[in-house]
Amino acid sequence: MTATRGLEGVVASETSISSIIDDTLTYVGYNIDDLADHASFEEVIYLLWHLKLPNQQELDELKQQLIENMELPQGVIDAFKLYSLQNVHPMAALRTAVSQLGLYDDEADIMEKEANYRKAIRLQAKIPTIVAAFARIRKGLDPVSPRKDLGLAANFLYMLKGKEPDDIEVEAFNKALVLHADHELNASTFTARVCVATLSDIYSGITAAIGALKGPLHGGANEQVMKMLTEIGSADRIEDYLHEKFRNKEKIMGFGHRVYRKGDPRAKHLKKMSEKLTKLTGQPYYYDMSVKIEQIVTSEKGIPANVDFYSASVYHSLGIDHDLFTPIFAVSRVSGWLAHILEQYSNNRIIRPRAEYVGPGMQTYVKIEDR
Ligand code: ACO
Repeated sequence: MTATRGLEGVVASETSISSIIDDTLTYVGYNIDDLADHASFEEVIYLLWHLKLPNQQELDELKQQLIENMELPQGVIDAFKLYSLQNVHPMAALRTAVSQLGLYDDEADIMEKEANYRKAIRLQAKIPTIVAAFARIRKGLDPVSPRKDLGLAANFLYMLKGKEPDDIEVEAFNKALVLHADHELNASTFTARVCVATLSDIYSGITAAIGALKGPLHGGANEQVMKMLTEIGSADRIEDYLHEKFRNKEKIMGFGHRVYRKGDPRAKHLKKMSEKLTKLTGQPYYYDMSVKIEQIVTSEKGIPANVDFYSASVYHSLGIDHDLFTPIFAVSRVSGWLAHILEQYSNNRIIRPRAEYVGPGMQTYVKIEDR
């Protein structure tokens, strides 16, 4: 038995939800470029969960179900208020809150298909509320209740800032949610599938997935990109900064991908949004710096930008705190995790690979008093 490091190239599951073929990403066969330009996030959620685009009535029903389930149990809000949140990363808070949500759900361990779908609705609806509530409570502000007349993208920005976002903000944020919704067997989705393949519950699967997304090699990279842009500070420092990183063999956050070779098809959409939004907010230098970094990393290292690179300056332009970038990724990706969890349950087999043993050969046990 020989191990494949990082399971590179291993096909670990079948899926009908999304595909990456020749650097093209599709959700259920629809090109991500079309969905990014035309679809609402709710349409994409429906697509991922039902494997077809909704008609108007189906979409309205889903929106209604989501809106009805956005409020949080008071206990989740109270728990946030109990902690001293200054040094708590919002991804840790989200991970804990989602696990806590399971305690309030009478159907948490009911495994019937309909019950699992109802839980999917609750989780998709409540995760944006959790992220926005945490962001406010840690600043000493009261959480803002969701509005019944707003979609998920607008509602999240509204709950975060306490004022209705304008159309440009909603359009940009909706597009970001669509682009991040699913991505075949990425690390967090695989984690979710491994977890529920033991027939554990949905809350456990999503909690595990959030833990995997948190890492800087996966979803955590978008926050690190903003940290890099802030650290560099101005365009004239970019070359020195990058060359030192290259010399030290350090990774440049927001670049590289296990599957894409020519480039991440989501990045161009975020790049366009970054150009527009940084100009609108009077901070075009974040876009200009990003373009220069991309040129150098691509030409000198041959490594293209991934989804996280331009999403950093997009979220910054939307006035979002930098440590909320990865939780926002979760607000979107939970739709994909849930789709994969439902798919896993529908045709389950426990996921139990093997390991190549590289430890010592057979040893003779020695009693502790003789060691
Ligand atoms: N900066 C500099 N060099 C890089 C980068 C990078 N961002 N990414 C890969 N490389 C180099 C590696 O150093 C390695 O070089 P070597 O062969 O000379 O040792 C080679 O390219 C292969 O890299 P691996 O890390 O082995 O590639 P892997 O497929 O395992 O990792 C990953 C993919 C984790 C995305 C990696 O490219 C990375 O760490 N990127 C930075 C973090 C990041 O942006 N993550 C977000 C990914 S998208 C997402 O999850 C949402």
